[in-house]
Amino acid sequence: MGKLDGKVAFITGAARGQGRAHATTLAREEANIAALDVCQNLSYPRYSLASRHDLDETVAQVRAYGRDAIGIIADVRDAAAMEAAVQQTVATLGRIDILICNAGVADMAFAWDISEAWWDDMVDINLKGYWLAAKYVVPQMIEQRSGGRIIMTSSVAGLKGMPGLAHYCAAKWGVIGLAKSLALEVAEYGITVNTLHPTAVDTPLITGMIQAAGMPTDEFLQQLRDANLFPVHLIGPEGIANAALWLASDEARYVTGQEFKIDAGMMLK
Ligand SMILES: NC(=O)c1ccc[n+]([C@@H]2O[C@H](COP(=O)([O-])OP(=O)(O)OC[C@H]3O[C@@H](n4cnc5c(N)ncnc54)[C@H](O)[C@@H]3O)[C@@H](O)[C@H]2O)c1
Repeated sequence: MGKLDGKVAFITGAARGQGRAHATTLAREEANIAALDVCQNLSYPRYSLASRHDLDETVAQVRAYGRDAIGIIADVRDAAAMEAAVQQTVATLGRIDILICNAGVADMAFAWDISEAWWDDMVDINLKGYWLAAKYVVPQMIEQRSGGRIIMTSSVAGLKGMPGLAHYCAAKWGVIGLAKSLALEVAEYGITVNTLHPTAVDTPLITGMIQAAGMPTDEFLQQLRDANLFPVHLIGPEGIANAALWLASDEARYVTGQEFKIDAGMMLK
């Protein structure tokens, strides 16, 4: 029996990257998966987001583990769409035990060069989108009376300032405030809320951001390598998914309101 046998996980930004790794890692431990993604390019960030084909691939990979999976196309900023996505998940998969707020975007500019629209998009997707997912999932978890796990992907950028990322950092620090407040509110229902803080991860977000910012890739990768304590440029998404798996499992039932750094030692430097 897997560690998550019979559980249902609702994962945002699941068409590719870390979201897909979360979906397949949890499915390997016998969770059924609702995989949500916007599946279209947006006016911001300045790189391509996932496609419908990507989301179908995530669903196929989950099903290859013999688990149930549904793909849902929705923008995490759209309250009505998120409420409908939660309803669809419960109608199709029966329940929601695990929420992973992961959908996010990144882009770089000095704070004074960020347009108002860029700022709003960044904070709406990376922070408001997390709150909306929790807003609609938490009442379902409370109604089920069997606890729950909420995992929110922040970043090392949610623990320190980073030049060129003022709007991204502001949103990722905000995720900690959201998670800690929510952790206090839902503890009596046996629901935990924790945040993940990865260093740079090998996904389309990081390559897209480098290209959008017009930075030489080799130079940027060397900066990432220098920032990490371990001699790595980028870490694999499975490293983040394994942390989420532990937090989603029964083993972590008394762990809440914590920040988990999967940062190749960056925060020690
Ligand atoms: N890659 C990194 O270096 C890194 C480091 C630390 C934290 N993070 C965070 O990890 C999370 C996952 O990012 P990733 O690296 O897998 O990037 P990614 O671009 O591969 O995946 C992000 C997914 O979110 C989706 N998405 C974007 N906007 C959306 C919206 N409005 N509604 C619904 N879906 C939307 C995209 O289509 C994409 O599939 C993000 O929150 C990101 O900020 C990434």
